[in-house]
Amino acid sequence: MLFSLPAVVLALGTAAGLVDAAPSPPRPLTIELTKRDLRLKNDDGSVNIAGLQAQTVALTHKYNRNRNNYRYHALGEGKNPESRMAREKRASAGTIQLTEQSMSVWTGKVYVGTPAVPFNIYFDTGSSDFTIASIACGTSCGTKQRYNYTASSTAVKTTRTVTTNFVDGTSSSGTLYTDTVTIAGVTANQQALVAASSLSSTVADIASDGLMGLAFSSLSGAYTSSFMFTVNSQGTAAYPYFSMRLNNNGPSEMTFGAFNRLRSASGNPRWYQLATDSGTYTYWQFGMAAPWVNNKTALSTPTNHIIDSGTTLIVAPPSSAAEFWSHVPGSAVYNSNFWTFPCASPPQVDFAFSRITLQRWGVSQDSFNLGYLAEDPTRCVGAVIGQNLGLGSSWILGDAFLTNVYVVHDVANKRIGLAIPR
Ligand SMILES: *[C@@H]1O[C@H](CO)[C@@H](O)[C@H](O)[C@H]1NC(C)=O
Ligand SMILES: *[C@@H]1O[C@H](CO)[C@@H](O)[C@H](O)[C@H]1NC(C)=O
Repeated sequence: MLFSLPAVVLALGTAAGLVDAAPSPPRPLTIELTKRDLRLKNDDGSVNIAGLQAQTVALTHKYNRNRNNYRYHALGEGKNPESRMAREKRASAGTIQLTEQSMSVWTGKVYVGTPAVPFNIYFDTGSSDFTIASIACGTSCGTKQRYNYTASSTAVKTTRTVTTNFVDGTSSSGTLYTDTVTIAGVTANQQALVAASSLSSTVADIASDGLMGLAFSSLSGAYTSSFMFTVNSQGTAAYPYFSMRLNNNGPSEMTFGAFNRLRSASGNPRWYQLATDSGTYTYWQFGMAAPWVNNKTALSTPTNHIIDSGTTLIVAPPSSAAEFWSHVPGSAVYNSNFWTFPCASPPQVDFAFSRITLQRWGVSQDSFNLGYLAEDPTRCVGAVIGQNLGLGSSWILGDAFLTNVYVVHDVANKRIGLAIPR
């Protein structure tokens, strides 16, 4: 089975040896991330279409739940919990079983409770609940580390039961607690967390004990603040930031309470104010953004672009994806989600945000090219896919984009900072 291959552990580089005039955060603010190889490209370099297709299913689950939460909290729709549960049940009916290779998985160490117990947590900037396996969980939690709330002196149980996303977008549910949570030496007191009593069986094997969403509370099933927002409200971090370097070919890391200058090759980040949904902060998203192909804009109407570490590819509404691909010389439709391009002449793909089109952020060939077709090695599948996720005209920039930048999320000033990574 593909997913049983050992995870690729990306150790932190020996950055301490590199002299850098700019201040960098003390080491404890930064944790290394472990990437699991998803095997979306086969060993011979051909594309794993089944694995990619499974990603689209997982995304549908996740974005449906986010949307239901947003409608419930921000728009007051479905306030009757019964009808909401019924709707969620309907939404997840008839779904196919996912295989573990379908997720993009970036995990790191998170400490929960008093005394603090380490958990291996999957960081997802495209959702907002923190869910961990708990002692209330039966066999569906497999061999995961379980949160023992009776053993934590700082655990406080609430009366609420919450249904959340889990790693593959399927649901998990459990009781809402608050407890002390520490990441990279930064502590949030009374952080809301869902102690899962059930997980989808397909995710039981994943080398992650839980999922930490890092977006805004309007996407949260519990309508509670995610880690860095809690930390910021308690005033314990030096800067109201969490920063992420996702790297397919070297060390990956997250920094809480700072911006790690050692990871920037372009000095200070360039800041972009967040776009909202009808005045409500939801995702980490750029407004007035657009893709470019070979130095020309490839979308006539700029729109919101969401950044999401829990999405592998770059996802556009189908008509928007078609417009993008019409600008790629030699492109062809592969199926309802995917397009191909001539492997020998790949497009140069960049993104421009908030009308600042002079600075564009590129997607490397390595990130853009998902592999060649087994049936025609001259054709390669591209990372921009078409899928209707109910996000209006918005695009999602997943790992295929994020592995090309250093990203700073500023929870206080509601902005995203980008830097050229190193
Ligand atoms: C949880 O902690 C309590 C108190 O330390 C202990 O008695 C109990 O055995 C633990 N439960 C599990 C399932 O580990
Ligand atoms: C786009 O413009 C840059 C800068 O002028 C240039 O280096 C690059 O070759 C151009 N790319 C294409 C595909 O024309």
